[in-house]
Amino acid sequence: MVSRRMFLSSAALAPFVAGAAGPTATGGGGGQRPVVVGSSNGLRAAELALERMKAGADPLDAVIAGVNLVEDDPKDMSVGYGGIPNEEGVVQLDACVMHGPSGRAGAVAALEGIKNPSRVAKAVMETTDHILLVGPGARRFAEMNGFPVENLLTDKARKVWLYWKQNLSAKDKWLEPDPSKLDPEVQEFIRDYGRDPFRDPRSHGTIHLSACDGRGDLAGCTSTSGLFFKMPGRVGDSSLIGAGCFVDNGLGAAGSTGRGEANILVSGGHLIVERIRAGRSPKDACLDALRRIAETTKEKRLLDERGRPAFPISFYAVSKSGAYGMAAMWSHRPSGKPSQFAVADAQGARLENAAYLYEGKPTI
Ligand code: GLY
Repeated sequence: MVSRRMFLSSAALAPFVAGAAGPTATGGGGGQRPVVVGSSNGLRAAELALERMKAGADPLDAVIAGVNLVEDDPKDMSVGYGGIPNEEGVVQLDACVMHGPSGRAGAVAALEGIKNPSRVAKAVMETTDHILLVGPGARRFAEMNGFPVENLLTDKARKVWLYWKQNLSAKDKWLEPDPSKLDPEVQEFIRDYGRDPFRDPRSHGTIHLSACDGRGDLAGCTSTSGLFFKMPGRVGDSSLIGAGCFVDNGLGAAGSTGRGEANILVSGGHLIVERIRAGRSPKDACLDALRRIAETTKEKRLLDERGRPAFPISFYAVSKSGAYGMAAMWSHRPSGKPSQFAVADAQGARLENAAYLYEGKPTI
């Protein structure tokens, strides 16, 4: 068995070689409006957002309606109700929205007890002079606006958290559960996410949707329960305009899922829209952001034995013309399934394979 210390000391110092998009990847295309692009957990969300835009909805209202589907769904344990809690067993949600036509944005971070942080973010945008409200202030603001306060911790998420806590240390007073007698819901979680939350706890999930309506107006929304078992108060990229989401109504919209800390360090959403300004396609702009992360990630604990970022991170983008694109750091997800993304346009709603920098799957 390779210990964490051995793994770190053996991490190669070899420079990374950032590859091109994989041969089987599509990672983008289009040029038709309206169009919605987003994370693979947002297939139905993208479909709904497209329907709403076709019926005349504003693109931001459309993407928020789509994201709400996933926030409300306890089966998605990375977003909204049913999200995996922080290290204290409390679900804390992050979200942001940006509206191209008005150039306005809103966000909330570490919000407890409100299952639709994306809608609270929109209320921040529309009814305050601020962009980002956090923690108890965000919760008070949501309550003042009539959002119901609910317990967001489902029984399944509680069991997964408890399993993680029981296994944390041999020196604490919790006894490690017998692996042969794991609760069926914990087993199901390990199967679905392709990771044991104790042995490999740094799992992420999030939903992002970017949309361009029939007139070329743009919007984006990102929502998450964040890094599994995060420290209380930790805020990822999903609340940060310019990182988890960014929109310039003259150019494009972009957003991210995956390791938020890596995205924050390169302001990925903004970087992608600036690459679109420079003439890159949405897909190539997403690959550029991944290359930037690969170039600037220096900590050995975050790199594999070949010096490549060992974590999952993906970017999604749509341009004003309706071209769309997506790229992932790795061709496959931790579960071994191919990295994919959701797109909805005149051809319908579907999953397409990601463009990617590296063949393989993230190891942290
Ligand atoms: N990208 C989601 C997070 O890091 O919280």
